[in-house]
Amino acid sequence: MRYLGGKSRTARQIAGCINTIRQPGQPYWEPFVGAGWVLARVRGEPIFASDANQALIFMWQRLQRGWEPPAVVTEEQYAIARSGGYDAALTAFVGFGCSFGGKWFGGYARGNTSPKMVKRSLLDKSKWFENVHFFAADFLTCYPPTSSCLIYCDPPYDDTTGYGAVPKFSTIKFWDRVRLMETCGHTVIVSEYQAPDDFTCILEMPTKTEMRTVDNGREARTERLFRLGEHTPIQPGLF
Ligand SMILES: C[S@@+](CC[C@H](N)C(=O)[O-])C[C@H]1O[C@@H](n2cnc3c(N)ncnc32)[C@H](O)[C@@H]1O
Repeated sequence: MRYLGGKSRTARQIAGCINTIRQPGQPYWEPFVGAGWVLARVRGEPIFASDANQALIFMWQRLQRGWEPPAVVTEEQYAIARSGGYDAALTAFVGFGCSFGGKWFGGYARGNTSPKMVKRSLLDKSKWFENVHFFAADFLTCYPPTSSCLIYCDPPYDDTTGYGAVPKFSTIKFWDRVRLMETCGHTVIVSEYQAPDDFTCILEMPTKTEMRTVDNGREARTERLFRLGEHTPIQPGLF
């Protein structure tokens, strides 16, 4: 499933880093779960996952109960979904899964991704989500689900396209929230391109964007993981 900002290309490395840092039995919380690329590679309970997009959370919860999304979505059905004519789970499936570039109702995707492929990808992923506790929440104001969590944050990146289904994101408030969580005994790992000076980059992952360059290649960029304070970089060879 294409998803704006989704970590399909780097999920393995990110999950490897999470598994290296997480203590045995430590609760894991992913507050920007999106399409769940990283979540699908994290094992061991308890696991909590949330997102500010309520419809998306309804979709994951419904998939946990055995829901099968449709294999075909017509352009007419896409328009009905956009105008609020379907339930939340189906709206999320259509809003992301059938939209150009996985952007919330960013235009009906013709050709490159079929609803059938999206359905398959979601059903494959949700097999790993049987025991995940999903809930809808705004990370900037909500409470952690339990104490001493390992929290992996993949927020909307600073200065990038917003997520139509949720309010505009404040990166400044976000970093303050991460500092607060660390003060309260949680361990927080953040995906971003850059971070304030009191954070250390613990892993760099060269990757390619969805954007095409002039010679029809894909634009290169470096994804990074950060932690508050001084930390030794993680060796990617570990996973
Ligand atoms: C970069 S995407 C996450 C992608 C995900 N890691 C993946 O691989 O599929 C960012 C997510 O943050 C969510 N979001 C935006 N603002 C939020 C907020 N204030 N609190 C929680 N989630 C938010 C969006 O709905 C979106 O799903």
